[in-house]
Amino acid sequence: MKIVIIDYGSQYTQLLARRIREMGVFSTVVNSKDFKFDGTELGVILSGGPMSVYDEETFELPEELFNRTVPVLGICYGMQLIAKRFGGRVERGEISEYGFTKVSLSHSVLFEGIPSEITAWMSHGDTVKILPKGFVQTAKSQNDLIAAFEYKNIHAIQFHPEVAHTEHGTDILKNFVFKICKAQPQWTMESFVDSKVKEIKSIVKDKKVIGAISGGVDSTIVTVLTSKAIGDHLIPIFVNHGLLRIEDMEVPKDLKRIGIDVKVVDASNLFFERLKGIEDPEKKRKTIGETFIEVFEKEALSYDAEFLLQGTIYPDAIESATTSKSSVKIKSHHNVGGLPERMNLKLLEPIRELFKDEVRRVGKELGLPNTFIQRHPFPGPGLAVRIIGEVTREKADILRSADDILTKVLIEKGEYSKIWQAFAVLLSSRSVGVKGDARSYGYVLAIRAVDSVDGMTASWHDLPHDILKEISTKITGQIPEIGRIVYDITDKPPSTIEWE
Ligand code: XMP
Repeated sequence: MKIVIIDYGSQYTQLLARRIREMGVFSTVVNSKDFKFDGTELGVILSGGPMSVYDEETFELPEELFNRTVPVLGICYGMQLIAKRFGGRVERGEISEYGFTKVSLSHSVLFEGIPSEITAWMSHGDTVKILPKGFVQTAKSQNDLIAAFEYKNIHAIQFHPEVAHTEHGTDILKNFVFKICKAQPQWTMESFVDSKVKEIKSIVKDKKVIGAISGGVDSTIVTVLTSKAIGDHLIPIFVNHGLLRIEDMEVPKDLKRIGIDVKVVDASNLFFERLKGIEDPEKKRKTIGETFIEVFEKEALSYDAEFLLQGTIYPDAIESATTSKSSVKIKSHHNVGGLPERMNLKLLEPIRELFKDEVRRVGKELGLPNTFIQRHPFPGPGLAVRIIGEVTREKADILRSADDILTKVLIEKGEYSKIWQAFAVLLSSRSVGVKGDARSYGYVLAIRAVDSVDGMTASWHDLPHDILKEISTKITGQIPEIGRIVYDITDKPPSTIEWE
């Protein structure tokens, strides 16, 4: 049973799903065009969005939505769609409300247990001026605009309860989820693992599944989960492209210890050969992606597999299904895409509906050690996107050693677990220095550490100076090729987390 969120392109849509899952209730995001009832909906939320109901290309609400008894909550643009659908009037407001706004609440189950005045986060230009017939206003803003209304089990609010700036926002969502939709908090990682294991068994039956292990958290956890379901019907393949961290190389051994045999393929020579002379970041990513598929395909063909296992997680899945018109490709993400059609494989994506923190909780449920679960994310193209300019084996070795020193210092100082992601980047420029009594001319290395919730936005992490000093001294002391170290102090946006 679930709460469905129909996405109209709001930047907060994913946040809504997270908030509801944090309440122990399963929630999914669907594109408005793909929405269809399947009988498991306890309630439907219509998200906000950047459009106006008077845009030429506005959305029509699915008629089916109101032929049922399933409760509906419209937020912001979702509220305006409801108003329009039932014959109310929405106007481009003379007053736009953006940011903190005082809202007075009147009687509604949605606002039970909440003070009669709250500060809420608004972001709208259009305003509902006249309510549809029979609907009752349940809140007004400090500008005397309609901030909420309802009719039977249809509720609408102009402000964003999912945003932390809205006082009692989570309580309002809880009222919708538990009091109006009558949901039960049954979504736990234990129940997820149990149901997925059953589901994988029933899909795969006695067939074979191949999967690529990258050393990262997602692909490893999905491997352990699937192995729990189908044992040695799963064939995990680990392709070493020469651009992995030291810690990634340990993963096949770690899995062996818990009874999972991984086929290790060292293809690093081929990757370095193909990367020769390439400096353009997108070209690097594409080359690695294509070479990866080529190597993996060759291996995979020797097994008579029917399925390909992938560690796709929710943000990737939403990204490709989103309604938002503004989503543009920033970087091409690398996975084994393209293979399923070429090899006639069916895709198995058991953690497709999980957020990163949920994937980690599944890992915990599966008994993986904390040190493994808390590892920082690592991009598919690996160290290649952290070596600016041409990638060579020599540079990869230098960067790998620097990354290892950085990681060890952060772990030792208790800082590693406080950071979303920390890594080193090897620049193509060199810098003059003195080592011993001689002039040196070494590489510049940048250190990046960021705080983030899901990698979509990030702020640079304020590492204590004594730790920065230790990192710098150790790296320059132990790696003679590195002559200078700088610290990256940019947020995302405007920059991205990775450098390429
Ligand atoms: P950016 O650099 O886009 O990174 O701000 C956001 C998060 O995504 C990771 N990342 C990738 N992960 N394949 C992946 O699996 C990729 O190609 C890729 N590129 C970036 C990045 O490490 C950060 O956590």
